[in-house]
Amino acid sequence: MLFRQLFDKESSTYTYLIASGRGREALIIDPVKELTQTYLDLINQLDLKLVRAIDTHTHADHITALGELRKATDCMTLMGEFTRAECVSDHVSEGDIIDVDGVKLKSLYTPGHTDESFSFVLDGGGAREDAVFTGDVLLIRGSGRTDFQGGDPYKSYDSIVNKLFTLGDDTLVYPAHDYKGFAVSSIFEERNHNPRLAGKSAEQYADIMNSLNLPDPKLMDVAVPANLACGNAA
Ligand SMILES: [Fe+2]
Repeated sequence: MLFRQLFDKESSTYTYLIASGRGREALIIDPVKELTQTYLDLINQLDLKLVRAIDTHTHADHITALGELRKATDCMTLMGEFTRAECVSDHVSEGDIIDVDGVKLKSLYTPGHTDESFSFVLDGGGAREDAVFTGDVLLIRGSGRTDFQGGDPYKSYDSIVNKLFTLGDDTLVYPAHDYKGFAVSSIFEERNHNPRLAGKSAEQYADIMNSLNLPDPKLMDVAVPANLACGNAA
């Protein structure tokens, strides 16, 4: 399998480009508009055909490349069924499988960071570990804030503990952001060592989340409206 993790320094966003091999169809998860040309160059160098561009949720801290990538490659753009972005080509629901040339992603509805967030489980097919792209609901040793965009700490806890933590121990965790230098984790590590979640009740988790008092993201007023238009600012 061809798997590339790309990083946007400005927003600390991870983007994932995946295909079954060189010369095959590919998908991309959580691409950043400013890096569109970087993705297109890499896709070209690897002789890939981009067919799906996916956002896990409506991001508040960067502008999505979904619109630009669709323009450039004619790929389909995908988000979860509860997104308010009317510009996406198609929507996924809980349990839907996205199959791109043998790369299989299962859609999981994981609200809490936003009310429309989805995670995607990559089937390793036995040849490699399964992996889960968690967007911002579950981060490495952390979790995405729950204080705007329909966020809810109890829904976040439920999504993480009752959905994501039921995946296999060795399932790799690939979030949409990291601010501390981690690139990947596993369900085992997060279930046992995530300081917000390990051994915590839903009430304890909600107390932690409700006392974070984070400032709004710098780009929030620009990014959210732009992302509802797939990156094409109104
Ligand atoms: Fe987010």
